[in-house]
Amino acid sequence: MEKKRGDWQKARNTPAGKDTNAPLGVFVLEYDASNEDVEKTRNWKPIIKIAVSGAAGMISNHLLFKIASGEVFGPDQPVALRLLGSERSQVALEGVAMELEDCLFPLLREVDIGIDARKVFEDADWALLIGAKPRGPGMERGDLLEMNGGIFAEQGKALNDVAKKTCKVMVVGNPCNTNALICMANAPNLDKRNFHALTRLDENRAKCQLALKAGVFYETVSNVTIWGNHSTTQVPDFVNAKIGGERCTDVIDDQAWLENDFTPAIQTRGGLLIKKWGRSSAASTAVSIADAIKALVTPTKEGDWFSTAVITDGNPYGIQEGLVFSMPCRSNGDGSYEIVEGLKINDWLRERIKKSEEELAGERSCVAHLMGVSGGACPILEDTLLPGEM
Ligand code: LMR
Repeated sequence: MEKKRGDWQKARNTPAGKDTNAPLGVFVLEYDASNEDVEKTRNWKPIIKIAVSGAAGMISNHLLFKIASGEVFGPDQPVALRLLGSERSQVALEGVAMELEDCLFPLLREVDIGIDARKVFEDADWALLIGAKPRGPGMERGDLLEMNGGIFAEQGKALNDVAKKTCKVMVVGNPCNTNALICMANAPNLDKRNFHALTRLDENRAKCQLALKAGVFYETVSNVTIWGNHSTTQVPDFVNAKIGGERCTDVIDDQAWLENDFTPAIQTRGGLLIKKWGRSSAASTAVSIADAIKALVTPTKEGDWFSTAVITDGNPYGIQEGLVFSMPCRSNGDGSYEIVEGLKINDWLRERIKKSEEELAGERSCVAHLMGVSGGACPILEDTLLPGEM
């Protein structure tokens, strides 16, 4: 039975963030066999709830429509979208919800919007944490960590209290690795392995540049790992990458280019894009979030892997525990992952991976108080940068 807005009001007296009058674009559609194309819906899975923060922003504006269309979770997966905005973006959020409504996506069964994470995250199966504040003029990295860390500590607590225990959390808002760590520390009811920070964008950027250099289509580039932090210390690994099944370094026989051009180009690609475009990457970030989710909900191709930043506890590469660090992972398609062992770490890689590890350990120290640990100092000596900062 379809619920009209008035019914919704009756059913849930306080739809996200408002006491009276359901906001525009907010709806719930329930299965009604007599109204549905039974052939189409018979094998649909139970609905999943996807919470998205920063939902009125540019990245979300690309991502939400992909999710609602079925492109991300599959053509048999109905979805409920829970959109989290800020007080400032509340009205814009209604506009986003109205556009979703106007698309007539068959798989989109619910849209709810709000500014209270505790309501929006209720029973969430996935939380895509996109909203974060960019670094302002004169702000040190420590200040940025503090400002965004506070938001992610609150959101972690909210997830802990109201989301499903199995909720998968993908942190996109920068500095995403440490924000994910803070969120995780504040959500002890959720398994640490449910948390990811997005480095798939960096992987995609690396695949494209390797393909262009080799003069091949990017589909043939595989086994690309981004190690470490989503910052300018990240390490795009050309040592273990493959092109057409061959070692990348055999296909691109130009070590100087790989070390001195390719590597910094990937590390600072976000910044170059901001320079050209005038704002941070949005469409490509959304595509990479979709790719990162698909990588977890579909089995990884035999012999390949993908990059995602995950908890280092028990990792096979000797990276210190208690960090969210990008590594090569595989999935059997049920939303979980395993870290791929046995990649060759030569001296060049080792030295750079270490630098990213030290950077992340420094970031962790700066936000210790947001993780419930007392006595942390903020030892960031070098003011390292996000990919978008130059
Ligand atoms: C990117 O890599 O494009 C972004 O993370 C850039 C940024 O700092 O917002």
